[in-house]
Amino acid sequence: MRVSILGCGHVGLVTGACLAEVGHEVMCTDNDRAKLGVLEQGGLPFYEPGLAGIVDRNLRVQRLSFTRNLGEAVRFGDVIFICVGTPPLRNGDADLAALDAAAKLIVTESQTSKLVVEKSTVPAQTGQRLRQALAVYARQSTLRSSFRVASNPEFLREGTAVFDSLHPERIVIGVQDETAELQLRGIYSPILEQSFSCPIHDPACPPTPPPVLLVTDINSSELIKHACNTFLALKISYANLIADICEKTGANVDQVIEAMGLDPRIGPAFLRPGLGFGGFCLPKDIQAFLRLGERAGIDVSLLHAVENINRRRVESLMQKLHQALWVIQHKCIAVLGLSFKPDTDDIRFAPALDLIRQILDAGGEVRAYDPQAIEKAKAELPTVTYCESAYQAAQGAEALIIATEWEQFRQLDWALMRETMGRPLILDGRNFLQANTMRTLGFEYYGVGRPLEEPAREAIA
Ligand code: UDX
Repeated sequence: MRVSILGCGHVGLVTGACLAEVGHEVMCTDNDRAKLGVLEQGGLPFYEPGLAGIVDRNLRVQRLSFTRNLGEAVRFGDVIFICVGTPPLRNGDADLAALDAAAKLIVTESQTSKLVVEKSTVPAQTGQRLRQALAVYARQSTLRSSFRVASNPEFLREGTAVFDSLHPERIVIGVQDETAELQLRGIYSPILEQSFSCPIHDPACPPTPPPVLLVTDINSSELIKHACNTFLALKISYANLIADICEKTGANVDQVIEAMGLDPRIGPAFLRPGLGFGGFCLPKDIQAFLRLGERAGIDVSLLHAVENINRRRVESLMQKLHQALWVIQHKCIAVLGLSFKPDTDDIRFAPALDLIRQILDAGGEVRAYDPQAIEKAKAELPTVTYCESAYQAAQGAEALIIATEWEQFRQLDWALMRETMGRPLILDGRNFLQANTMRTLGFEYYGVGRPLEEPAREAIA
């Protein structure tokens, strides 16, 4: 099938590349010319494991293309995926201006009927508004194409976005007519049947089960995305609440969380306490969901609590830093990890950046290292000393903070790190390192919700 993608951010680019990979003809566009310039030169505007190979291969076989000509992109596909940004406005509402502009563009440029699919995360009832907008713009236009609207939320996670797109556990399509359903079933049939040869799947791994296809109405489909992301945020904040209680009571959050996760009704995922959730999805989605609830007159205090707990994570780590160092001013602090989570260079709403700002405000000096995000962080925080390795960042530091749990930090020679540091003090903002191992190596170690030292076991006579 011929598919157009409007918006080459994480969602649009990964969706477009993966749909090309499973056999469709895909044309992508974006109104950010710099981004398109990078793509046209064979580069990627962001780091995402596995994506470069897929983009490259599909460009070569000409199933994937990029164009600066927005009209050409609109005319190309029978199905148009809108993947434009929906950033938060000051009041927390999702800014839908780019979606509205996309609707106008589609009406102005289309010469045939189109199925317009909203893939960007949008508040419930946006589909209705989009349909109205398309109808209004169509009345103002001399062209006579017809438009159907569908919703198809994306659940991909940065860092594993390619795998999530090719092996999703569910595909949700919100439709109001049978033709739209058939078209979307057609687009996703290779993924639903897992009938393509997966470029990233390790043959040693067991095959993933085929995804479940859920066909819903458009409002429900839109709500599903927000409900999922908000629930994930809620789980993280709950884990952080438990961690706070553990710190006050001397319990060990690792043990509490492990036991909770073994209950199949709870599950272990998204129960890792630490610096909290960041990124461009969870924080903004919860805000938009909150606004939606408030406007509908619903008690959303649960969601406010989730946000408040998350907001206090950096503050709580700063208190520990103050406690350990007494005075932060003029002291050098090493920060490992800048991206909002590992395996991405995305620093949007990254807790690490918040933390660094607070250290700088307190008069401290920061030496930072991240495997991918340094270039992006430089623009936000120019006064930080960016280092080429974790060892370099640790040199002379009076404290080291793990802000993002990149797997490569586990492999560091921590004995060497201790030698390099001015004071062997670790604040592990992600409970990433083994507390005992670090203490045995001679570090003063503080995690989140972990006891200050291992309780001695009483011997049984
Ligand atoms: C999220 C959703 O997971 C995905 O389904 C949706 O499509 C887009 O939004 P993403 O933003 O890539 O994906 O990040 P995610 O993996 O959800 O992590 C979000 C944040 O939560 C990160 O800052 C991460 O460090 C933090 N987190 C995650 C925790 O603090 N604890 C956990 O247990 C899990």
